[in-house]
Amino acid sequence: MRVLMVGTGYVGLVTGSCLADVGHDVTCVDLNERKIEMLRDGFCPIFEPGLETVIRRNIGHDRLHFTSQLSQALPEADIAFIAVGTPEGEDGSADLTYVKAVAESLGELLAKDMVVVVKSTVPVGTCDLVEEIIQRQLRQRGVKHRIIVASNPEFLKEGDAIGDFMRPDRIVVGLDDLTAEDSFRALYRPFILDDQGKLLLMDRRSSELTKYGANAMLATRISFMNELAQLCENLGANVDKVRLGIGSDGRIGKKFLYAGPGYGGSCFPKDVAALLRTSEAHGVELKVLQAVTDANLRQKDLSFEKIARYFGDLRGRRIALWGLSFKPGTDDVRETPAFVIVRRLLDAGALVLAHDPEGAENFAKEFGDHPHLSYAEQAYDVLRGAEALVLITEWSEYKRPNWDKVGSLMAGKAVFDLRNQYEPWELMDKGFYYRCVGRPDSSAQTPR
Ligand SMILES: NC(=O)c1ccc[n+]([C@@H]2O[C@H](COP(=O)([O-])OP(=O)(O)OC[C@H]3O[C@@H](n4cnc5c(N)ncnc54)[C@H](O)[C@@H]3O)[C@@H](O)[C@H]2O)c1
Repeated sequence: MRVLMVGTGYVGLVTGSCLADVGHDVTCVDLNERKIEMLRDGFCPIFEPGLETVIRRNIGHDRLHFTSQLSQALPEADIAFIAVGTPEGEDGSADLTYVKAVAESLGELLAKDMVVVVKSTVPVGTCDLVEEIIQRQLRQRGVKHRIIVASNPEFLKEGDAIGDFMRPDRIVVGLDDLTAEDSFRALYRPFILDDQGKLLLMDRRSSELTKYGANAMLATRISFMNELAQLCENLGANVDKVRLGIGSDGRIGKKFLYAGPGYGGSCFPKDVAALLRTSEAHGVELKVLQAVTDANLRQKDLSFEKIARYFGDLRGRRIALWGLSFKPGTDDVRETPAFVIVRRLLDAGALVLAHDPEGAENFAKEFGDHPHLSYAEQAYDVLRGAEALVLITEWSEYKRPNWDKVGSLMAGKAVFDLRNQYEPWELMDKGFYYRCVGRPDSSAQTPR
């Protein structure tokens, strides 16, 4: 099929590249000309493992094209995806500016029947809105075309996006007009050869809500475990043992039960906020989800407070950070817990030295300059003279540090492991003051 992907970000680029990889002819459109030029030259503008290889392979096969001109790409397409951003608006609701702008452009340009697919994460009712906008434009132009608008939310995870897209758990398609079902079966056939039942067809509203429901459920698991971790710290229990104990129950499952510094990223915070706004607008109180958000905000503060309590006064203290992106495997820093921790450390007068294998540039751009914040190219370089090391993102390169080297570079010996990556006894044996999340550590030594 000839696929048009409008919006070439994390989702649009992965979706377009993977669809090309199974043989479809894909054109990705983006307003960002620099991005388009890079992509045409075979360079991936984001860090996503394996993506550049897929892009180059499909450019080579002449199945993947990039343009900033929607008007050029649209006439060739059999199906058009909308994969633009839906950031959090000022009141927490999803900002649909970009989605609406694409719908307007499609309405202005469409010259034939078309299936339009909303891949962006959008509030319930957005497909109705997209359809209305396109039809209004067509009416104004005095033309008539059969436009079917479908919802097809994306569930990929950054850092493992190619694998998620190529081997999906399920593909959700929301259609109110089932005549487009065959298009989706043809489009996704290569991804569901093992199990046709993975294509879940439903009405558009249920499909739109499924995406928010999935992210809200995952966020709930994280906040729940973070609160359980706090209780563990007070009771002398170990959240890792509790995690295994409860996760072994098939009804619960082992994934997404890790305590940490609170969830971040481009999806969970904004999607939970948007679902709360939708529910408010419809007079339905989602008490659990409000608590999930509150617990998450508190978790980020608690991470900072562990460090602050240890030092008492952070003024002039040199603090080394490992990890800035919201999770390993991505350069995405949107809503990363590192923002809160760095901001609070700087406000308290600390000097912050940070390293991230891929996310430092984006972090610096988003956070802005600060005289007491600097970055290093190499992980060990931030340790020189530091009085504490804080692990924020569990990149593989931080997983097995040489603790003797770490200790010899640092001026103090405190490690705050916000991802429970290290063995408490190993660090404490080596003379480190070690704090983690919900596991026995050096907390008894913290001055009150
Ligand atoms: N990032 C993820 O992990 C993820 C996962 C699942 C779903 N989603 C959802 O997918 C959507 C896209 O997210 P993303 O992370 O890819 O966003 P992104 O910000 O990385 O990319 C969006 C792209 O759309 C482009 N764009 C904006 N307006 C345009 C227009 N009129 N025409 C052409 N291009 C335009 C922007 O330049 C940008 O490159 C969001 O709704 C998001 O919630 C994201």
